[in-house]
Amino acid sequence: MPDDRTLEDARAQFPVLERIAYLQAGSAGPLARSTIDALRSEEERNLQDGRAGAEYIDRILALRAALRRKLGELVGVGAEHVALTASTTDGCNIVLAGLGLEPGDEVITTSDEHFGLLGPLHASGARVMVVPPDCDEIVGAVTSRTRLVAVSHVLWTSGQILPVHQFKERTGLPILVDGAQSVGAIPVDARGLDFFTISGQKWLCGPEGTGALVVADPDRLRVARPSYFSQAEHLPDGTFVPRSGARRFEPNWIPSGSLAGLEAAIDVQPDWGFERAAEMAERCRALLVDAGLEIALPAERATLVSWWPADEEPETVVTRLAEAGVVVRELPGRGLLRASVGWWTSDADLDRLVSGARV
Ligand SMILES: Cc1ncc(COP(=O)(O)O)c(C=O)c1O
Repeated sequence: MPDDRTLEDARAQFPVLERIAYLQAGSAGPLARSTIDALRSEEERNLQDGRAGAEYIDRILALRAALRRKLGELVGVGAEHVALTASTTDGCNIVLAGLGLEPGDEVITTSDEHFGLLGPLHASGARVMVVPPDCDEIVGAVTSRTRLVAVSHVLWTSGQILPVHQFKERTGLPILVDGAQSVGAIPVDARGLDFFTISGQKWLCGPEGTGALVVADPDRLRVARPSYFSQAEHLPDGTFVPRSGARRFEPNWIPSGSLAGLEAAIDVQPDWGFERAAEMAERCRALLVDAGLEIALPAERATLVSWWPADEEPETVVTRLAEAGVVVRELPGRGLLRASVGWWTSDADLDRLVSGARV
């Protein structure tokens, strides 16, 4: 159905946008009224009716099933490939634990990854090969011991979009893609990728502690961190028959309010969101360049805009902007500042950013 909401209508659903130039979705997106209404009404029902009985469990299971479907649609896969998680980090840990890597094994990653991926890679016990975010470099690092390529779809540092399908095709290896900075920000097609993570709280503007892991072939990944959701049946010694599909990897009970909240948040995203976010991110880059600032400018870029401050510490700029009602962040150890530009970003937000970006 065509989305005839105007920008003003769509923005009006996010109260924080009235006061703040909210350029922080790369960490946590703005919340819409309908997201919090859905969350509250679930919790209110739990308050009044309790959290017990077949009806309650059925409702939770229905909410989980609907959310798997909806998240799958966002990335082009069926619900049977989707496991609900608490975060991207959760998804990376599930995959790395399930692969059962050994000290002689190698995994290839890039120099620009977030600890949400790097931590699980390191904890896997495999040797982590770090190369620049480039297809030839990745292919060149493959050895007979390489078990996995693990990279972001969009780099959290520069906003660069990595050609993850090409990495898969050229290496022929299993690939784990960290989708924290892509899902909800740019169109995503997770088909053909072995493992793909989603964060609910960032560009999807959902509640914290929500996310998903897409698994192309669930039967080929061990369930290394089972929860009650993992098993179709089990024996007294814990031996279990996994549930069908990716549901078997679901690590925890998710509050019903969060399930309903994320579903509502996805529904708020306008049809024209991707197009407008890309346009506004480009406008942001152009304005920062006009202001004499040096920006990160990868050839393929998403909605994160990073720049180097002009002769001042990044924290000084973050503080000055925060005082002016503009929320951005610095990237520790990189000397960069980062604005997350969403479909909701207005021209006035960008003007406020640029006028506070330098003294
Ligand atoms: C590229 C990337 N990966 C992973 C994460 C962690 O995401 P989550 O909090 O959903 O685990 C972030 C941001 O926090 C990120 O930017």
